[in-house]
Amino acid sequence: MTDIPVYHFGEEWKRTAMCGDLRAHDKGNEVTLAGWVRKVREFGELTFLDMWDRSGLVQLVVEASDEKLHALFRSLRSEDVLAVRGTVRKRPADMVNAAMGTGEVEVEVSAAEVFNRSKVPPFNVTDKSQASDEMRLKYRYLDLRRDSMQSNLRLRHEIALKTRIYLSGEDFIEVETPMLVRSTPEGARDFIVPSRLQPGRFYALPQSPQFYKQILMVSGVDRYFQLARCLRDEDLRADRQPEHTQIDIEMSFISEDDIFALAEGLMKKIFLDVAGIELETPFPVLDYDESMLRYGTDKPDLRFGLEISDCSDIFRGSGFSAFASAVEKGGVVRGISWPGGLGQSKSQIKKLEKLVRGAGAGGLATVSVDGNGVESPIARFLGGGEIDAVLERFGVSASTPSLIMLVAGGVPVVEKSLGKLRTHLGEELVAGNGEMRFLWVNRFPLFMPSGDGGWEPAHHIFSMPLEKDIPRIDSDPGAVRGHLYDLVCNGTELGSGSIRIHMRELQEKLFGVIGIGEEEAERKFGFLLEAFEYGAPPHGGIAIGLDRLAMVMAAESSIRDFIAFPKTQSAASLMEGAPSEIEEGILEELHIRVTDRNERE
Ligand code: AMO
Repeated sequence: MTDIPVYHFGEEWKRTAMCGDLRAHDKGNEVTLAGWVRKVREFGELTFLDMWDRSGLVQLVVEASDEKLHALFRSLRSEDVLAVRGTVRKRPADMVNAAMGTGEVEVEVSAAEVFNRSKVPPFNVTDKSQASDEMRLKYRYLDLRRDSMQSNLRLRHEIALKTRIYLSGEDFIEVETPMLVRSTPEGARDFIVPSRLQPGRFYALPQSPQFYKQILMVSGVDRYFQLARCLRDEDLRADRQPEHTQIDIEMSFISEDDIFALAEGLMKKIFLDVAGIELETPFPVLDYDESMLRYGTDKPDLRFGLEISDCSDIFRGSGFSAFASAVEKGGVVRGISWPGGLGQSKSQIKKLEKLVRGAGAGGLATVSVDGNGVESPIARFLGGGEIDAVLERFGVSASTPSLIMLVAGGVPVVEKSLGKLRTHLGEELVAGNGEMRFLWVNRFPLFMPSGDGGWEPAHHIFSMPLEKDIPRIDSDPGAVRGHLYDLVCNGTELGSGSIRIHMRELQEKLFGVIGIGEEEAERKFGFLLEAFEYGAPPHGGIAIGLDRLAMVMAAESSIRDFIAFPKTQSAASLMEGAPSEIEEGILEELHIRVTDRNERE
């Protein structure tokens, strides 16, 4: 035992300052600092050490004349942890580092205590690009020592704090809802938790607090919010994690406009207070159908134009049979005018064609217009009138040259492929320009074809149809639009919500459309339907993804960087090794037998 070094953290090493806070006006002050070694540099008679804590870096200096301290400093390596006492002094003019917050000063160390040594870190914690994603997740505690990750954690905290302040000021109260809930799938798969006390029964982890927040409205809570953890067993993407946090909101006696105004106020406050960004409100509102027509997506990026135009009428009965037959079959011909496309090589255009083909399109037809005239591989199939009409549709002429790209086919394929093409072309135009373009997309369809000839909810099934569409619920479900809305920023869906159904009969009718009969509705959602019968008020709400909001605010593209301990693509946590096997005894207690044990990779 006596060989084990033990460093007690005593009174004498309590910090009096943070490393990154020291400035020229601290000159002459004696300070005690604690933190980690970033770098040790020997420089003739002097040893310099960059020391880090979460506030930043400061340079320490030890003179060779102090032999003991000098030897100690020379033994230190990156990420060793220590405390020092010393005097702040101004650096000589030629040593000032303007790039560093503390670049005008250094601390001349008079005493030091090492609390712990570090193994050689598997990657350099100052440089993000050096470490693979796997390494970053396995050694997350080191990854989180990076300045960028520290500022991401802080950003997230600030967003959460401002949210609580804003919503409390608007008379909302935060109510916590359970984590062990009844399994009532909301679109994704549930994570399931076995019950020990009730063998053969299971809880689910909540995909969102949707039912609880609606029931809180029945309870008269009126204005609810929660920073809610939501768990979904779904395939992961760059902007999706199995666990995420929602700013979850529900209100009674309100219309869609009230939710928009509240969420706009919240975004305005957060962006201003946290990032100093002034947002213009109200945000534009775009009908779902219009969004699909003009942008080929329900989450358009408005930072750039490149809008889609429909040319189907021009090609009805055209000599170019690919286009004519698409229109004849009820499909469309649509396109994008891309001025930047004129200088592109053939192989670059081929790449774009590959992109639209990947989204199901049959091909990409181009028409280029510049001072030398019109050039198009399909020109020989077209009448002169058709080309002129296309140019007119896009407002293109010799004085406004451009490359027009056209796709023909069924509506969903054309929307998807041109949507992808537009996003691809736009990304380059806006990379890093710092703009934040919000909008609402509303009036989504309530149902979409389920593949087996039936219907499934396009969002969730608790949303109110538009009044004018209620008569169409039985006759034409696909045409029914709902009081559903998404909050979109820079091409990312940040939030989603709806005005809810608050009456049993209508809710049951919608269940019927998606094939949920009375018995199944009672079994799965009986509690909610019954609650509606006890004076449920008209209500609605929204949930904004906190992780995504932080990601968009920081103009980053990976949600993982804004979650302290995220999961990999295969929903694993590499640091502690989750999911893991469970001891047989525990499984027995839970009355669970594993029949197919998949070896972990
Ligand atoms: P929805 O499922 O659209 O709606 O989720 C709302 C918002 O939460 C974020 N989000 C996610 N973020 C990270 N990883 C995920 N896997 C993930 N899934 C969703 C998105 C999304 O816009 N109960 C309804 C809300 C309502 O109607 O009030 C709901 O959960 O930013």
